[in-house]
Amino acid sequence: MHDPTTLPLYDSTAADAVLDPVARSAVLERLLDARTTLTADADGSSSVASFDPLDIDFVNWPTRLLQDEAELSRIEEIGSRFRERADALVLLGIGGSSMGPRALFSALCDPYHNERPRDARRDAPRIYFEGDNLDNNDQVALLDGLAHLRDQNWNLLVTSKSGSTIETAIALRIFLAALEARLGDSAEVAESLAVVTGAQSRLRDLAEGMGCENIFTLPEAIGGRFSVLTAVGLLPAAILGLDVRRLLEGAAEMTRVFREADAGQNPVLGHAATSITAEAHHGMSVRVLCVWSQALESLGLWHDQLLAESLGKGGRGATPLTAVNTRDLHSRGQQHQDGRRDKLITNLLVRETRTTPLVIPPRADDIDDLNRLAGRTLHEVLEAAVKGTNRAYAQDARPTADILLQRLDEFSIGAVLQMLMLAVTLEGYATGINPFGQPGVENYKRHMQDELGN
Ligand code: PA5
Repeated sequence: MHDPTTLPLYDSTAADAVLDPVARSAVLERLLDARTTLTADADGSSSVASFDPLDIDFVNWPTRLLQDEAELSRIEEIGSRFRERADALVLLGIGGSSMGPRALFSALCDPYHNERPRDARRDAPRIYFEGDNLDNNDQVALLDGLAHLRDQNWNLLVTSKSGSTIETAIALRIFLAALEARLGDSAEVAESLAVVTGAQSRLRDLAEGMGCENIFTLPEAIGGRFSVLTAVGLLPAAILGLDVRRLLEGAAEMTRVFREADAGQNPVLGHAATSITAEAHHGMSVRVLCVWSQALESLGLWHDQLLAESLGKGGRGATPLTAVNTRDLHSRGQQHQDGRRDKLITNLLVRETRTTPLVIPPRADDIDDLNRLAGRTLHEVLEAAVKGTNRAYAQDARPTADILLQRLDEFSIGAVLQMLMLAVTLEGYATGINPFGQPGVENYKRHMQDELGN
């Protein structure tokens, strides 16, 4: 049984004061119909599926995987094997094959994980993300660092559903060559490699050909940006010593609430309703996800991809933007307060700190005039910044809504990831945009291959 306070809450009171209530009610009606269609598609009970291909298995996936003890244990076992054997892990992947793992790592691990000694980082390896760019300097720097690891092992985790994405495939060649040169022994190389890929792919053929047994198969009907709670995110999470079952439990609970709860108690319906109303009826086509924790920036970037690739189609779709506050109050804040009225701001807030609250100390000279805050915690100042910023926006009729996490733990993060995936998909269903696939991405790939003379 889950603790109800740990499920993310959605509060759109401030946005509701600005947005047209009649329009929002009409949007909610459409969303309720869309929910019926979406859940029927997810359950396979529709007479005609809404989209082809129907990449909708992420909806029931957390519940299904929680019941699949064999697969879940395999993720945990191979995860702990890599955790024990590797001092450093290089994760190769791009887009959905990289952003989800990054989001989990940043949200749930120590911000200085890679700089900590092993026992202060859950006995887990350091982690480096590559294969998500074609940046020579980055790869040389990482290879150089790995070459200088003396008595320490580094291992490779490669994720690509298609198994042929060029950035990841080239990086694999380069890093595999380095691993082979270091280890020499092909059996050891095979053991140092883990792969997450589709049922059929060149990457799978390559790994199998090497004798690698650490291969996980991605479900056919889960697209890259919806795959964070499959082995794509769960294997690196297990390697990092995170509780993969709690991640799935949070997501499964969010799915249950999405299916059953009324609009007022349903974060997915609430978030989708506010977003659509702001865009369709008030021309607010920029969606700012303001994360009030550094640890959530990668989750914001994961959400940027989710929204952009799912709904940015056919000349439509809101533009996502991640802001990290209070940092970006000093960069983007001016525009959010005073610029074009084209933005809906959704705050992603965390109620509790993970670490001991820092208290502002008194100082005898008080030259900086901060003794008025002495004894208050840093987190209290942050809360004042949240309230003050929301009030400032409200006074100028700039809509804001809040997603409130109780704390940064696996349950909350699993739940909020699932909430956002469901809300984007539901929005696609309600507005007639196919949320699956990303046909527009193929164009750059074709032109790039032309440039390379292939
Ligand atoms: O959401 C998606 O499907 C994409 O962003 C993919 O994740 C990305 O293009 C990487 O693809 P692949 O995992 O096949 O290498």
